[in-house]
Amino acid sequence: MMTYTEAYKKLERFDQLHVLKFYDELSPEEKEELLRQIDETDFSVITSAKASGSEKGKISPISVLQLDGIEERRSSFEKTGAELIRQGKVGAVLLAGGMGTRLGSDNPKGMYNIGITRELFIFECLINNLLDVVKKVGAPIKLFIMTSDKNHEATVAFFNEKNYFGYDKAQVHFFMQDMAPATDFDGKVFMETKSRMATSPNGNGGWFSSMKRGGLLTVINEAGIEWLNVFAVDNVLQRIADPCFIGAAAEGGYAVGSKVIKKASPDERVGVMCLEDGRPSIVEYYELSDEMRDQLDENGEPAYNYGVILNYLFREKDLEALAERTLPLHIVKKKINHIDADGNAVIPEAENGFKYENLVLDMINMLESCIPFEVVREHEFAPVKNRTGVDSVDSARELLKRNGVAL
Ligand code: UTP
Repeated sequence: MMTYTEAYKKLERFDQLHVLKFYDELSPEEKEELLRQIDETDFSVITSAKASGSEKGKISPISVLQLDGIEERRSSFEKTGAELIRQGKVGAVLLAGGMGTRLGSDNPKGMYNIGITRELFIFECLINNLLDVVKKVGAPIKLFIMTSDKNHEATVAFFNEKNYFGYDKAQVHFFMQDMAPATDFDGKVFMETKSRMATSPNGNGGWFSSMKRGGLLTVINEAGIEWLNVFAVDNVLQRIADPCFIGAAAEGGYAVGSKVIKKASPDERVGVMCLEDGRPSIVEYYELSDEMRDQLDENGEPAYNYGVILNYLFREKDLEALAERTLPLHIVKKKINHIDADGNAVIPEAENGFKYENLVLDMINMLESCIPFEVVREHEFAPVKNRTGVDSVDSARELLKRNGVAL
């Protein structure tokens, strides 16, 4: 472990010496805790995130497999997908390392009870959706669950307490993602306590390298998994390991499939699929120019009309090939609890600093080919980001009811 002098030098290099402000007040154990954290923390994310601006290449429309095209080939796609599942070639990866700050619950987001007259947890909705496929196809599907330092124990304990909601426990593997320091708007690391820097999960983009580090590549390879369906914790309606989607990606020989929905309006705040310098890519809603927003295709439809819902199907061997490549870092504004210069606890009402994140959508651009696969919004998109309003507990409940889920 680092000595005080080494820690001082490291912090000085990154202009973060305030981290040692309360050092003299700490107990020997706390001193050790802080030195260890300084040793383990990668402060370069703060500087490199600032440097990695979002220089985009030349954007052009991507062709989307739309609902009518899927219907025409549905039986073939479903047969191919179901066969791959039966051969054990498909795994699912739940991204549940986020903090869910907008929902504002202290527990992991998946523990949120979205039921009204009965208990129905977000994790339970997802497991139920996956179990639909397991039962229909008649084969088990491995489920990998990404957690973070902040919610790992609570998540694992919850799954145990709920008996994995009827899922075969032997098919479930947990792994933890990495943390990154959280800073104020000037890039100074916040202190969570006098002996701990504030950290937050480093985004959902590092999932594959975290799986690798967690030793799960062996599990994947031994099981013969060729496709990984990565999905977010908060969309309670999404279909997971959807045989039709898998069949479409596999039959077409694509490196990745991306479930997309038709945008509700040109200004809807979703990232849209496109090509960037001829490779698949996603333009975030805040990067969408007016020109792109208004551009029409040869059928008179908006040329960038399909938004991503964070449900991707990756061809596993392509991920192994890009595992060593570094993803760009994004700076995200968030509310961060911390102590002030006098050591008093601060619980901010509004966003007060930055977190540094890798995003899964940046992996898409590193792959050769992608099939955007249209799904019906009302049937497959009910994200729970907020308590009320857009993408909320309220809107998701409404959608669940409409899809026949008893609440
Ligand atoms: P969000 O972008 O909604 O972030 O995550 P969040 O941290 O969960 O929520 P807010 O913004 O604080 O309210 C989209 C998906 O990516 C996962 C989340 O768990 C969710 O499934 N995620 C996000 C991670 O797994 N790790 C991260 O570091 C961030």
